[in-house]
Amino acid sequence: MTDFDAVHERRGTGSSKWSKYPADILPMWVADMDFPAAPEIVDAIRNRLEHPMLGYGVARDELRARIVEDMASKYDWSITVDDIVFLPGVEPGFNMALKAMLEPGDGLVVQTPVYRPILNAAGHWGLVRNEVPLRATEQGYVMDVDPLASALARSRALLLCNPQNPTGKVFTKDELTEIAALCEKNDALIISDEIHCDLLFDGRRHMPIATLSKETANRTITLMAASKTYNIAGLKTAFAIVQNKEIRERFAQSRLGMVDSVNILGLEATLAAYTHASDWKARMLAYIQANRDYLSEQVASRFPAIRLIKAEATFLAWLDCREMGLAPDPQAFFLERGKVGFSAGSEFGAPYGDYVRVNFGCPRSLLSEGLDRMERALAAN
Ligand SMILES: Cc1ncc(COP(=O)(O)O)c(C=O)c1O
Repeated sequence: MTDFDAVHERRGTGSSKWSKYPADILPMWVADMDFPAAPEIVDAIRNRLEHPMLGYGVARDELRARIVEDMASKYDWSITVDDIVFLPGVEPGFNMALKAMLEPGDGLVVQTPVYRPILNAAGHWGLVRNEVPLRATEQGYVMDVDPLASALARSRALLLCNPQNPTGKVFTKDELTEIAALCEKNDALIISDEIHCDLLFDGRRHMPIATLSKETANRTITLMAASKTYNIAGLKTAFAIVQNKEIRERFAQSRLGMVDSVNILGLEATLAAYTHASDWKARMLAYIQANRDYLSEQVASRFPAIRLIKAEATFLAWLDCREMGLAPDPQAFFLERGKVGFSAGSEFGAPYGDYVRVNFGCPRSLLSEGLDRMERALAAN
């Protein structure tokens, strides 16, 4: 059984998170958790390796059927095995969607702050990025309808991120309904990155936007993966659900020459995650929810000038450090003076240079060490 408190040495294992900085820096940046994969997943990979043929992979019928069942049981969403397109990642998925469905010069809406590859995607395909900011309130992050409506009126598509990275916002059914109505009005495609869909806190339930109506499903490409939830992102396996056949064919066609087939061990790991690792997931979720609460209590008591709205999902916290006046910016300040490596707010949009994103998907002792490092940096300032 996984001990989520155990700290494992990850340096020297080819981990991107632990290779970015020298040994004296505690890395708390990329969305990769410092927990071992569920034993059920590791066993499935080991079992697959008993057969020593590791050629090109394709999803087995069991995995397709498992995803169909999962969508029905989790979201009351009726899809067929043919609606699923396997991909080596969600990021290639949204780029394939943009390549397939939009033309250079078309507008693309993104809600900021947002995960950098979503922010930058428009630029890869000659699209015009129309940014609509989310707004921080006491109740959490909210979306304002008017600016979204005017951005969609100038756009061919929305690249939605739900649950949202970096704010941890979970869009409500009402908000999703507003979004879907505006997309219908403007005949806009919805590309919905739902990679964090299994990481909701406080009993919240994820709602794929495509489940709102047949009309919405018909204009939506949904992207999911087991990678974030089960900490297997290095296995490069994700999938799209596209119910509109014409869109699906264009989408699938757009991988040619660019997006490769899927990792065979990733397919086995994904099947094991969805079939055997639900207890692990429940324990992990309880652990990171407690980390979220600990982080927000500690920030409130030790750094009252930092504003932190509790994440509703994900293992990411978005810290508003604007009142602190940290030079040259909070990420560089905490890195240089505190030896703790957060993600820089500017990655998530130009106005967010005075924010940092903190990854709290780690043993509590590492989170606590990160907070101590922040405190030491500020004390020496
Ligand atoms: C919102 C979001 N989408 C996509 C990705 C990357 O997904 P993949 O590794 O499957 O390309 C991440 C990783 O952090 C993410 O947070």
